[in-house]
Amino acid sequence: MTEPVTLQDTQAAYDSVASLYAELFSDVLDTLPMERALLAVFADLVRAHGAGPVADIGCGPGHVTAHLHALGLTAFGVDLSAAMVALARQAHPALRFHEGSMTALDLADGVLGGILAFYSIIHMPPRHLPAVFAEFHRVLAPGGHLLLGFFAGDDPLPREFDHKVSLAYRWSPDSLVELLREAGFDEVARLRREPHEGERFHQAALMVRKAGRL
Ligand SMILES: C[S@@+](CC[C@H](N)C(=O)[O-])C[C@H]1O[C@@H](n2cnc3c(N)ncnc32)[C@H](O)[C@@H]1O
Repeated sequence: MTEPVTLQDTQAAYDSVASLYAELFSDVLDTLPMERALLAVFADLVRAHGAGPVADIGCGPGHVTAHLHALGLTAFGVDLSAAMVALARQAHPALRFHEGSMTALDLADGVLGGILAFYSIIHMPPRHLPAVFAEFHRVLAPGGHLLLGFFAGDDPLPREFDHKVSLAYRWSPDSLVELLREAGFDEVARLRREPHEGERFHQAALMVRKAGRL
């Protein structure tokens, strides 16, 4: 197995491709009707449980943060890559973006109504993911929703693959749900869809909720 990359490696890798990534993906939601539908449901559920701000963690150039804002949420973005944060601020000057890592969020306990982590946990070495889910649980209010996007695999163990930017992992939805349960989340919904042209793997999303009520 390849040695897992460090946060610094991931940050440097995304800093170096940030402009190209923004060029390629800033309009990608236009081509993803199922993901748009799921984001709309996520927004409805966050509102139904008392709103509260939503953090788009691993926001990249901020296009999904802006989509959440357009859905009526108070959304802000967090990303490891300074270059991504700079591009997000430039493209969406009315929204807040800041540098930070999902491993140690600069947020108080229970302040968020929702968290979106769209294709950003994919680079986290699997042994660190329980701590990341504990961190998500800490900053979410009771009843808060977490929506994860990731590449799906069938193997119960996470499988690394040669992602174009930095080493990444595919997960079986069942295995991720198990880790999320251990962190205190209940499953709400899951999506697994066929790859579109140009995509290598099945794409998946999981929506879970922190137990309890506001
Ligand atoms: C594949 S991109 C996804 C960007 C955006 N969410 C999207 O759906 O297009 C992964 C993003 O996660 C960020 N990222 C990776 N590890 C992170 C971490 N530990 N904390 C915060 N952001 C991270 C990267 O810098 C990159 O911008």
